[in-house]
Amino acid sequence: MKLTRFPRHPLTFGPTPIHPLKRLSAHLGGQVELFAKRDDCNSGLAFGGNKTRKLEYLVPEAVAQGCDTLVSIGGIQSNQTRQVAAVAAHLGMKCVLVQEHWVDHVDAVYDRVGNIEMSRILGADVRLDSAGFDIGIRPSWQQALQEVRQAGGRPFAIPAGCSEHPLGGLGYVGFAEELRQQEAAQGWRFDYIVVCSVTGSTQAGMVVGFAADGRAQRVIGIDASAKPEATHAQIVRIARHTAALVELGREIEAADVVLDTRYGGPAYGLPSEGTLEAIRLCARQEGMLTDPVYEGKSMQGLIDKVRRGEFPAGSRVLYVHLGGVPALNAYSFLFRNG
Ligand SMILES: Cc1ncc(COP(=O)(O)O)c(C=O)c1O
Repeated sequence: MKLTRFPRHPLTFGPTPIHPLKRLSAHLGGQVELFAKRDDCNSGLAFGGNKTRKLEYLVPEAVAQGCDTLVSIGGIQSNQTRQVAAVAAHLGMKCVLVQEHWVDHVDAVYDRVGNIEMSRILGADVRLDSAGFDIGIRPSWQQALQEVRQAGGRPFAIPAGCSEHPLGGLGYVGFAEELRQQEAAQGWRFDYIVVCSVTGSTQAGMVVGFAADGRAQRVIGIDASAKPEATHAQIVRIARHTAALVELGREIEAADVVLDTRYGGPAYGLPSEGTLEAIRLCARQEGMLTDPVYEGKSMQGLIDKVRRGEFPAGSRVLYVHLGGVPALNAYSFLFRNG
């Protein structure tokens, strides 16, 4: 695999820590050993998260093209746009963010706290748009790019979740390389890797990265889009493209992309009772916070799969925490009683 031929601009602290989830494992019966790898603590840039790892491979292109404005898109409580705003500030670039109405969630301060508050503080030009949830390329974003050009700027386009960007899958190919080194140092390998999926390039990168050691299907995606067909298709497409980029040397099959579709509902951005229970359980057993949009759903999937005995006894399962906790503030009403 040829990842090192792609330039990488460091934005993260380095390899992210792995720690056991001892109390949660015991609480769930002790048959399966759970661990967490903390990509939610990967950077000092506005809390970081999975996009910061992906952006390390996009930034060199933005710099090489002489761009002066990062333009991206997401929902109102998008983690992606907060991370793009922080990276733009860090690089001394401008930032334009289109924030769409992806979630029908009513909380008095939904469009003022958490991620969007941070993006505004970071100096981004935040533009609210009434369009609904979609993981594809949006007209509002193309319009924002056009406006930057018309004003004489040089925009660099970063699609939702970095996923449609041709280099968007590379960060999590790198994650697989990093984990392999951590596993070599500890002397054993994880049996399963659990990860949340919406726009797809996180899981796609992992599928390619772990295909290199025969573990593509040990990456268990937990859908949080509640539109799993679109998400599955997008992961497969990005994985195929990324595999070609890094010269993986084998085809990615649709079956290599394992996506559990049971936990995404009732809709993108809206947690079920099961999601809220999982957030509370993980917080109270481990002191580890997850959010109602993404990581709470993958935590719900992890917990439910352990309870159902879907991981063979003795398995060592790695939960990859991708970030997202700033969005908790926008859901304060749901947690008003804890
Ligand atoms: C915290 C968090 N977890 C998971 C995801 C899903 O990652 P991806 O969009 O690459 O599938 C995202 C972004 O969409 C996220 O912000």
